[in-house]
Amino acid sequence: MAELGFEVIGVDIDPAKVEILQSGRVPFYEPGLPEVLARNIDAGRLRFTTSISEAAATADIHFICVGTPQQAGANAADLSQVFGSVQALAPHLRAGALVVGKSTVPVGTAALIADQLAITAPDVEVAWNPEFLREGFAVADTLHPDRLVIGVRGNRAEDLLRQVYAPLLADGVPFLVTDFPTAELVKVAANSFLATKISFINAMAEVCEAAGADITQLAEAIGYDPRIGNRFLAAGLGFGGGCLPKDIRAFMARAGELGAEEALAFLREVDQINLRQRTHTVNLALAALGGSFAAKNVTVLGAAFKPDSDDVRDSPALAVAAAIHNAGGNVVVHDPKALANAARVYPTLTYVEDVNEALANAELVLHLTEWPEYRDLDPGALPAAAKQRHLIDARNRLDPQLWRAAGWTYRALGRPTA
Ligand code: UGA
Repeated sequence: MAELGFEVIGVDIDPAKVEILQSGRVPFYEPGLPEVLARNIDAGRLRFTTSISEAAATADIHFICVGTPQQAGANAADLSQVFGSVQALAPHLRAGALVVGKSTVPVGTAALIADQLAITAPDVEVAWNPEFLREGFAVADTLHPDRLVIGVRGNRAEDLLRQVYAPLLADGVPFLVTDFPTAELVKVAANSFLATKISFINAMAEVCEAAGADITQLAEAIGYDPRIGNRFLAAGLGFGGGCLPKDIRAFMARAGELGAEEALAFLREVDQINLRQRTHTVNLALAALGGSFAAKNVTVLGAAFKPDSDDVRDSPALAVAAAIHNAGGNVVVHDPKALANAARVYPTLTYVEDVNEALANAELVLHLTEWPEYRDLDPGALPAAAKQRHLIDARNRLDPQLWRAAGWTYRALGRPTA
């Protein structure tokens, strides 16, 4: 918003985060974001505070961008941060203000918030404006989105958001105006489709493996059909992160509350196919090591849930690393950016910052997050710590010929064994 020219105040309840941001640093890894942050702080358009009263007092538009994680022990979303921030904001709203929800919420939440605010702040409007950015591409996705979707109840909210997004609209970004429930559903429908696409190709990978076929060629071949498309067809360890897994579960939970449970029964299968890739990878690792992890040196390449991120929330790579560690393996984990976050979640694993050092004693290497630098590794130059070394490429991105030529056994998900 500051980059678009607005005067912006970011509010967070965590004083440490506010201090880091105010000093021009980003408390997580996101390519390009530090530059945008520093530029806008320097220009005087952006600052951060923990004081919601001070921030809200002068603002016309309030974006709610808090997290909606999965509830502990349930599939549903935990909405405490959404309702907590609205409650904290409500007493400070000026007449005519607009509250815009960006968080991913169960359908019906926007209406609840609008109805609540109507009691205490009748002149205030609510809009729901779901966020579609991807981690790793957050800056570009925000400034050049595929589309903008706003759910509104009245024209004033739409007019204000047209002014907010005027530069993007001038660029031709599609602008869809809907009611509240449609806007809320667009977001979870989009993430459910993406999750389904990944689980579809992983299900095909399971069949390829059983039939001796190659999933990478199959995916390329079906992807040339523009109705299918080749994006999000990378078979492997499956999806993780703070969005896709919890969003499909929260969607199923909400559909159940609405009596539409059956419509989303397929998402349970999508979730199960996805989790099965993790067990399958552990089983392949076990087989490569002759049936036991005990005292075996296993190196895991990648801890983030995907490359270009330091996010380890529901990371498939870390789940596999932890499972092998718990089964007795000596697991060493490497990641270019996510080691500090990984160590907070699984403090008992061994983390090594230098990739060559991480690989030095490996009997088995698992390629679990496809950072580009792993493709540049020269397997021939790695020290031979064991007579027989094994590679499992659970992201199907390394060159089988290169690794086999250097004396490694190469296994991937959904590809022939030799
Ligand atoms: C996802 C959506 O792509 C965004 O549009 C959405 O805004 C965001 O969630 C959100 O709800 O906030 P993100 O979680 O950043 O974005 O990550 P993705 O790029 O979607 O990747 C998700 C997972 O799928 C990763 O673990 C990735 O490794 C995996 N993946 C992706 C595959 O296994 N295969 C693929 O072909 C693509």
